[in-house]
Amino acid sequence: MRVIPSRLVVPVFLVCLTMLALPFGVRAQTTAAKSFKTNCTLCHGDDGSGNSPTGKALKAKDLASAEVQAISDADLATVIAKGKGKMPAFGSKLSPDVINSLVVYIRHLPKK
Ligand code: HEC
Repeated sequence: MRVIPSRLVVPVFLVCLTMLALPFGVRAQTTAAKSFKTNCTLCHGDDGSGNSPTGKALKAKDLASAEVQAISDADLATVIAKGKGKMPAFGSKLSPDVINSLVVYIRHLPKK
């Protein structure tokens, strides 16, 4: 009795793997979007532009701007973890993983 022909086992296995792997990437993006909304939009706005009343008052820069995008991943992560000027430090509140996902999130802002 052969229910699945053996030449189908590998492709079917690969398809299953892809389907398993996909939601992880998507989930990482949603987690970043959520933590951005919770922790950052007050000053940086939904789109990172800093166009919120608090953002304007504190002169938060547009995170999608060429100026901010020119900052390295490591330096962006440091600003988020340690703060800078009126930007609060999030190192004790957010894990390094979440901070790195926020860096990726900031990188995607100009493409929206
Ligand atoms: C209380 C307001 C406030 C909150 C909340 C806030 N920021 Fe900021 N952020 C600022 C200000 C103001 C600056 C500009 C700091 C400076 O250049 O002196 C800044 C700068 C930055 C920069 C660096 C850009 C630059 O100008 O060098 C990044 C990256 C950043 N914020 C990301 C985030 C992320 C991610 C969060 C959420 C985890 C967040 N910020 C939450 C106010 C805030």
